[in-house]
Amino acid sequence: MTTQRPGPRLDRRGFLKLGAAAGLAVTTAPALSGCSFLDQRESIDTVGDIDFSNPLHIPPLAESSRRDGTTVFELTAQAGRSAIVPAGEADTWGLNGSLLGPTLRARRGESVEINVTNDLDESTTLHWHGMHLPAAADGGPHQMIEPGDTWSPSWRIDQPAATLWYHPHPHGETERHVYRGLGGLFIIDDDDEAGLDLPRTYGVDDIPVIVQDKTFDADGRLQETSRQDNGMIGGTILVNGTAGPVFDVTAQRTRLRLLNASTARSYSFGFEDREFAMIGSDGGLLREPATLDRILLTPGERAEIVVELEPGEEVTLRSYPQDLGLSSGRTRSTGAGDTLDVLLLRAEDDLDPSPDLPAELVSVERLDESDATETREFELRNNRINGESMEMDRIDDVVTVDTTEVWEVWNGHRQPHNFHVHDVQFQVLSVDGDDPPAQLSGWKDTIYLPPDVRFRLIMRFTEYTDPSVPYMYHCHLLWHEDEGMMGQFVVVEPGEEAGSVGSGHEHDH
Ligand code: C2O
Ligand code: CU
Ligand code: CU
Repeated sequence: MTTQRPGPRLDRRGFLKLGAAAGLAVTTAPALSGCSFLDQRESIDTVGDIDFSNPLHIPPLAESSRRDGTTVFELTAQAGRSAIVPAGEADTWGLNGSLLGPTLRARRGESVEINVTNDLDESTTLHWHGMHLPAAADGGPHQMIEPGDTWSPSWRIDQPAATLWYHPHPHGETERHVYRGLGGLFIIDDDDEAGLDLPRTYGVDDIPVIVQDKTFDADGRLQETSRQDNGMIGGTILVNGTAGPVFDVTAQRTRLRLLNASTARSYSFGFEDREFAMIGSDGGLLREPATLDRILLTPGERAEIVVELEPGEEVTLRSYPQDLGLSSGRTRSTGAGDTLDVLLLRAEDDLDPSPDLPAELVSVERLDESDATETREFELRNNRINGESMEMDRIDDVVTVDTTEVWEVWNGHRQPHNFHVHDVQFQVLSVDGDDPPAQLSGWKDTIYLPPDVRFRLIMRFTEYTDPSVPYMYHCHLLWHEDEGMMGQFVVVEPGEEAGSVGSGHEHDH
């Protein structure tokens, strides 16, 4: 049992002040339940209440070894204890540590193998979110790793430079396993990205920002029971596992790799007094930087942004109230009305100059609708997709390899849902018939679905086929996913039929 978090240094008064604002609504949530709680939750505002005194934890880059031209990583899922808040230590899970995991990093064209050992006392999986790879390597609910076992998927990285991530995916348990702390970044590099004048010194001017919300009890333990119909909404925001995080900025421009790794909460990130440049979305860089003042990230989504600071300044990354297209009661209950201080950026008195951002980044080939040979529709409603609840041994869709498809997706429900597809990165053709906004103009694998807005997504399925090991599509609000808002598709050779898939308790190492 190790403790790797920095010691508790949250200002006592500041923390109590936050407690007073958030306490009734959030911290005592287990005592309240159901609709009465839903109706009672008030929006919280933590601006000025957080004493940012804990140095931001930077997840280490994972070590690797080389074997027969393959880069081999080792990850071990384990239980531990972490001092996150002043009140006491929490039981947490991590990979190669007690909370979260190292940052994996590999280059386009590189072959990787990852030995994932499960030292927990229950089965789990590890899924490579956003990765194009064989279904058997995907780490979804069909690749369970029993306690004591090691699972060793391998594949060749072949997609653009991007900020991907990894997390468990055991059916019905994903929310709990992610909430306890399993997850980390998987950064992909390529020559196009390397040729651009962008901040890219990891931990210096290129910073992982893994944002999660938690609820702690009076003794500092993680609460897992304060669940509403949309999952758990916590009042304490962690970045890379650090509460009240401060990062000392040493360069004029800093690249933040934002990941919403929360189970249910969405964030609208921004700064009080400045815009920032968005340079990348889920699956890679944009064609050109987009100047924004807010970026909405729902669970599972990423964005790379670049922010500029003056010497000596202090600037807070904040999450602002967001319009998720919900009623005012549901806006409060989902946390969408909250204003949250997330991370303090503290610039040193001398900053290293950074080059101007390139006016153009990468060429993003637009997928062409006239190439699509199949259109599928997916309605998300009542924790089901097209009226069906996830069944491990049912294949919902059969896709032919080397084809382009249009998926029309909408949320026919008054609840917040998003939509994530495994194996591919897609492009947004239209949003209710209109062109997508800049932040949805690049490669995406997860997209927010406001109620009653129709999204047309285009994607191409290449390379890997397996008639009997499915990929998933699902809502990435993890409680919804666990409740069955997920479907399965296989990618097959032309003319091939779907095989039969197991219930998930078989081993397919
Ligand atoms: Cu991030 Cu199916 O998952
Ligand atoms: Cu995924
Ligand atoms: Cu949902």
